Amino acid sequence: MAENRSVPVFDLFSRQWGLATAGTLDHFNTCTIAWGTLGTIWGRSVCTVFINELRYTNEFMRDNEYFTVSFFPESYREDLELLGRESGRDGDKVARTKLTPVSHGNCVIFKEACLTYVCRKIYWDRMSVDQMLDPGVRDGMYQKMPPHDEYIGEIVEVIEA
Ligand SMILES: Cc1cc2nc3c(=O)[nH]c(=O)nc-3n(C[C@H](O)[C@H](O)[C@H](O)COP(=O)(O)O)c2cc1C
Repeated sequence: MAENRSVPVFDLFSRQWGLATAGTLDHFNTCTIAWGTLGTIWGRSVCTVFINELRYTNEFMRDNEYFTVSFFPESYREDLELLGRESGRDGDKVARTKLTPVSHGNCVIFKEACLTYVCRKIYWDRMSVDQMLDPGVRDGMYQKMPPHDEYIGEIVEVIEA
């Protein structure tokens, strides 16, 4: 998988993975995500991500109007692994990767990304375990962790390298 654009949309998050990033260059956080959707609502093109409240990134998602969702060439896989294993609470994990965060308007993007969605948060909600209809989901991971928060972002810019 050298180029993300050859990845079918259903695999974009689940196989390629991405980074959800919120905040400004002097105060931001990012984490690896494998859950997300692309679609439309209210006449807008949207990218929706699901960030657990346990993630430090969730604080930034909550507190900022904009977030970015970035995808990378396969050569950055180990960086995404690190950013999905370690927490920004414990130090500057981005500095331990090959990635270069760059200020872009109200948000942060990465120089190495091959595809970035700049999103304006238009809705968020905490998923309700009671409304999870698949028992495998409801009685599986959510016995051990709180439900994820859903963030719908209007895609205001697409940056392709
Ligand atoms: C491949 C992969 C996919 C992940 N997908 C998600 C996701 O979609 N949502 C989420 O909340 N956490 C996801 N995580 C977990 C976070 O990336 C991980 O907990 C991270 O260390 C959080 O960092 P933070 O505390 O700096 O925000 C994923 C981790 C990996 C390795």
